[in-house]
This record gives sequence, structure tokens and C-alpha cells, in this order.
Amino acid sequence: MINADLEEMDQSSLEKVIALVHKLTGISMGVNKKTLIQGRLRPRIRKLGLISYDQYLDYLNAHKDEVQEFVNLVTTNETSFFRTQRVWDFFTKDFLPKWTAANPKTTLKIWSGASSSGEEIYTIGICCEEHLQKNPGFNYQIFGTDISSEVLAVAETAEYAGRSIESFKTSNRQLFDKYMKPSADVYKVSSEIRAKIKFGIHNLFQLPVDRKNYDIIFLRNVLIYFEPKDQEKVLTNISKGLVSDGILIIGESESLNSLSTPFKYKLPLVYEKDEGKVA
Ligand SMILES: C[S@@+](CC[C@H](N)C(=O)[O-])C[C@H]1O[C@@H](n2cnc3c(N)ncnc32)[C@H](O)[C@@H]1O
Repeated sequence: MINADLEEMDQSSLEKVIALVHKLTGISMGVNKKTLIQGRLRPRIRKLGLISYDQYLDYLNAHKDEVQEFVNLVTTNETSFFRTQRVWDFFTKDFLPKWTAANPKTTLKIWSGASSSGEEIYTIGICCEEHLQKNPGFNYQIFGTDISSEVLAVAETAEYAGRSIESFKTSNRQLFDKYMKPSADVYKVSSEIRAKIKFGIHNLFQLPVDRKNYDIIFLRNVLIYFEPKDQEKVLTNISKGLVSDGILIIGESESLNSLSTPFKYKLPLVYEKDEGKVA
């Protein structure tokens, strides 16, 4: 049912929506995000035939299935292949060679904790495949998680088209042709990479299921959505998933400098687990 008469969001509904976003995702939004919030929720509320944001809040209360839909709508999922070249230079030229030399015949375990629609995960996979070709005994597994079921569904298809691949195609043509296979009007990530990857839904405010398991965790461009005290909670949770000397990679506009966390600085965007500070 389409209803064009959806009321403007009032201050009280705005505050309730902001509180609910924080409760469900940890994301902190100011009242200055009203236009963005309305723009994200409006089509859904209209589709449900409701006429006010308060009605939608009641609907959310009464329909538990709608909660995931709401989370999908309020998260920002922007991502790209080879986002922030400096990270991939570190991963391929520093981390992978050193880790392989120190851990022969062991499987490298990688977790991307806010993997969005998969571009980051498949970039990691491409780097690992390239490394594998020069180091035949090397093996790896990647786990991608996100709070949004919608982006995870895209990631699972491993199919990309249009804008999401343009920059990868032009800046890294050789790797693109090697690992992105044309299939109808999309490109699908090659099967040897897909075989090493698993996806699952996970809220970073919950403890990881696999403790002391991952050698490296990518947690990029998600901390920016959280308040410092919430960033500390997430980083403490994440640290529990890492092995003792495990590595954490964050996003280019993020820093752990003024936070109290179980990590020590290693390089720009790169931190190492500080076992002495793990709670
Ligand atoms: C901007 S994207 C970053 C994607 C990728 N890591 C990158 O750097 O390109 C942020 C992702 O964090 C996810 N996210 C937000 N809050 C989360 C939470 N509490 N737990 C898990 N994922 C969350 C969003 O759904 C979104 O897909």
C-alpha cells in the first residue's frame, strides 16, 4: 500500500529513533541527521502504509522481524575494492611475508568485522591468492561479518557491476582480469577465493564466538560511527578474537590514540594486541 501523506518527523520521534539506532547498533547519530534518517526510513514506512514515524516505532515494537530491516536501513555501507592503498601495501609487503615466515604450514585466519557488501573481504582474498602463488605452502581463511543482513546477502553473491568495480578495473587491471570473472552483465569473484570465505551476521557489541582465533582483524571505517566509550567496548570485544600478537587494522579517518584499549600502536592504521592490557 502506498501512502503519500507521511507526516514530517517531529522532535520526539527523532529522539526515539536515534535512541533505538544506538540501542540496536551502537551507532551514535545527532539530531542534525534528521534529513538523512527521514530519507532512509520514508520509503519503508510508506510501503507499510503507515502515516507517522511514531506509528512505525509502534510497528517495530510489535513486529520483531522488522528490527533487522530497520538496522539495514540505518547503517551506512559505503566500501570499495582496495580502499586505502596504504593498508594493502602493509598487508602484502609487510604482514603476509613476515607472518608466513614465522608460521610455516599454518592457516592464516582473518576476520573483517564490518565487511559490508564484500569488497574488503574479496580484496583480502585477492592479496592472499597472489601471496599463495609465490608461497605454495601458504593457506588462509577469511570470515566476514556485518550487522546488516542486506549487505551480507550482496557479499555472498560475490557479484559486482557498475560503479562498485569501475575504480578497481581501471587502477588494477591485471588483478581485475585475473580474479573477476565476467558472468552475464556482472563480474563474479573467482571460485578459489570464494572457497576460502565465510560470512555471518555479527554485532560488534557482542563478544566474538571464536576466541584467540584470528591472526589479523580488519575493523575499518566503522569505529567512526561510535562514541569513544562505545569504541572502547567494541575494541575490547574485538581483542578477544585475536591471537596474542594479533594485528588490528582500522580505517584512515580513525585512531585509537585517545582511547583506553588493549592495543598498542605499530604503524599508521595498524595496531598490535597488547596482552597485558586485555581485560
Ligand atoms: C562504511 S562500512 C565499512 C566497510 C568496510 N569495512 C570498508 O572499510 O570499506 C561500515 C559497516 O559497518 C557496519 N556496522 C555498523 N554498526 C555495526 C555493528 N554494531 N556491528 C557490526 N557491523 C556494524 C555497517 O552495516 C556497514 O556495513
